[in-house]
Amino acid sequence: MSSEMQHIQWFPGHMTKTRRKIAEVLPIIDAVAEIVDARIPVSSRNPDLRDIIKDKPLMILLNKCDMADPKQTARWIEYYKTQGIHAIPIDCKTGKGLSNFKDIVKTTLKDKLESYREKGMAGKPLRVMVVGITNVGKSTFINRIAGGSRVKAENRPGVTRGNQWVSIDKQLELLDTPGVLWPKFEDQTVAERLAFTGAVKDGILDIELLAVRLIDNLKESYPELFMARYNLAELEEDSYDILCAIGKKRGMVIRGGETDTVRASAMLLEEYRNCKIGRISLERVENYA
Ligand code: G4P
Repeated sequence: MSSEMQHIQWFPGHMTKTRRKIAEVLPIIDAVAEIVDARIPVSSRNPDLRDIIKDKPLMILLNKCDMADPKQTARWIEYYKTQGIHAIPIDCKTGKGLSNFKDIVKTTLKDKLESYREKGMAGKPLRVMVVGITNVGKSTFINRIAGGSRVKAENRPGVTRGNQWVSIDKQLELLDTPGVLWPKFEDQTVAERLAFTGAVKDGILDIELLAVRLIDNLKESYPELFMARYNLAELEEDSYDILCAIGKKRGMVIRGGETDTVRASAMLLEEYRNCKIGRISLERVENYA
């Protein structure tokens, strides 16, 4: 069995378990905050989330916005607004944007807060479940926002032992996803984009193929940044030829003068992941709206 097959077959059991665990806590949460990677806000979402959380209000946190194209991030936020979803850009590495989190919760739960006020329950804390597929930065987000106040509340009614509750202040409590959320991994484009960002381990997809596909994307969406980074005077039609040219420029040559394309591919992917090429978003609203 290939490693790709193993990777895919590993998930179904987890999906069932996560669905069940989320269903258990749904009655005691008020809203869901979904963290996505701002560079790939479609591929880094869980395809079944709406179905799993039923009619719970949803907000979106576009994380890693420090690495995404700010113009595209702004457009995604506008787009979500048209869908009735509030979204904010955040950068959990530095903490930028996190101060807007409480506001977005209050905006999302405006009606609930209003009804609490009417019923004389104004101090009742809001409970938000934080979800996200692996590597979007969920742990970093929770650690930053909690600032050391991570608590377990195992004796709360309806709360399974081991659920991670974080008390932010008297008015806001967060619950870390009870379980592991999955991307739409059966979709090749999704798998590819997750691999570009490093969310899918290298070795699952062919590294040279991945580099060539990344070049296809960069050529189409960010030709200037790409040409500037690798000092390319023009962009050849064939992305594999471009990969060879880039490798050669970096001295990655093997016997006979050919480019070591495996090394060149690893270098390109590493540079994309570390934002060396620029702030690049690989998914644009116009391709989805
Ligand atoms: P997860 O719980 O959702 O699986 O993700 P986690 O917080 O572990 O974050 C995954 C990686 O993403 C980490 O990098 C983390 O530092 C990085 N990260 C999280 N938020 C941001 C952000 O807003 N901007 C940037 N640039 N990076 C972010 P790592 O390489 O796995 O570890 P390290 O570099 O922190 O050591």
